[in-house]
Amino acid sequence: MAKRKQGLGWIEWLRGWMYVIYEMLFQRITASHLHNPLELPPLSDLTCIVTGSTSGIGREIARQLAEAGAHIVMAVRNPKAAHELINQWSASWHGLPLNIEVMQLDLLSLDSVVTFANAWNARLAPLHVLINNAGIFSIGEPQKFSKDGFEEHMQVNHLAPALLSILLLPSLIRGSPSRIINVNSVMHYVGFVDTEDMNAVSGKRKYSSLLGYTSSKLAQVMFSSVLHKRLPVEAGVNVVCVSPGIVHTNVARDLPRIVQAAYHLIPYFIFSAQEGSRSALFSATDPQIPEYCELLKADEWPVCAFISQDCRPTNPSEEAHSVETSFEVWEKTLEMIGLPSDAVERLIEGKEVKCRYGTQND
Ligand SMILES: NC(=O)c1ccc[n+]([C@@H]2O[C@H](COP(=O)([O-])OP(=O)(O)OC[C@H]3O[C@@H](n4cnc5c(N)ncnc54)[C@H](OP(=O)(O)O)[C@@H]3O)[C@@H](O)[C@H]2O)c1
Repeated sequence: MAKRKQGLGWIEWLRGWMYVIYEMLFQRITASHLHNPLELPPLSDLTCIVTGSTSGIGREIARQLAEAGAHIVMAVRNPKAAHELINQWSASWHGLPLNIEVMQLDLLSLDSVVTFANAWNARLAPLHVLINNAGIFSIGEPQKFSKDGFEEHMQVNHLAPALLSILLLPSLIRGSPSRIINVNSVMHYVGFVDTEDMNAVSGKRKYSSLLGYTSSKLAQVMFSSVLHKRLPVEAGVNVVCVSPGIVHTNVARDLPRIVQAAYHLIPYFIFSAQEGSRSALFSATDPQIPEYCELLKADEWPVCAFISQDCRPTNPSEEAHSVETSFEVWEKTLEMIGLPSDAVERLIEGKEVKCRYGTQND
């Protein structure tokens, strides 16, 4: 029997870091063809859910989509902060009134994800775009676990968005052609997922926040690829992962003061949140995206679409192309988020799906 891979080989690891360094040094050059802010078409026909829209990239995504006329649902853990932002945006906006609402969502609680999805699906309204933007990178912090028992990076960056995407499928199908946009990261190139140790507790690899973050981002790409493959073209739901670039946001809040200061000193290299929002906005609105996703679906082994910070399609990491591990990540994820293995097929057929979390079993 072939020996199980225990981590990235050093050549893969080195190549991964070269991608990260290249993005940091050259993102402004490779994205120089893009306007800032990105020009958006009128979007009054779209309803979009944006998670984590009280800060950084998500805040920009929500504001710009709303100003282009979309109906925005800010899915946030701090509704008060979201309402304050809506007041600010409305006060400085001179067009038609912004159509934004706020719903509570805490990704550290899978119960909260189910409650959110049930409340949204109960409206029987179409959903055109789900933007899974919220994420954490608790740099330098010790390992932490959610109340559901999962390593926090894995839960917030991968498990909870995966559960949200699947539970919202009925609304996304109602809104088809629709899109699931996952704000991923170039850091997935240095990630490795050990499907026997998704919580990084076995001690096989020493835990660090870098390990937690990069493996959660790679798990998201792998899961998205299988989801993309399982969704038939007729369902009309496209799955895209995007890299926003290296962006100056609150994600650096846990960095040592001196590194945060360095962040401010190198504005040439680092994108503003507005610049970092472009790949997600592009993927959410460009008319060619569904066609590109369909093209990838026809591949023998289609990985999902991955749009880089310069709004061009790119290949996710070599590890993300591992068919075997991607299916293991799929199965393991469904098990962890409490869904049956045929959840997607059942939802497509319009059947009910029971989740271990939330109030569905009450
Ligand atoms: N900045 C970068 O260089 C960079 C690079 C690659 C990828 N990304 C990705 O971009 C996405 C956005 O990050 P950002 O840079 O804009 O960081 P940010 O400014 O820290 O924003 C993250 C957002 O996620 C929300 N969030 C965190 N934990 C949550 C939870 N448990 N439940 C619900 N919402 C939660 C935060 O809510 P609060 O406002 O309540 O804290 C915040 O709105 C993340 O997925 C990140 O991994 C960022």
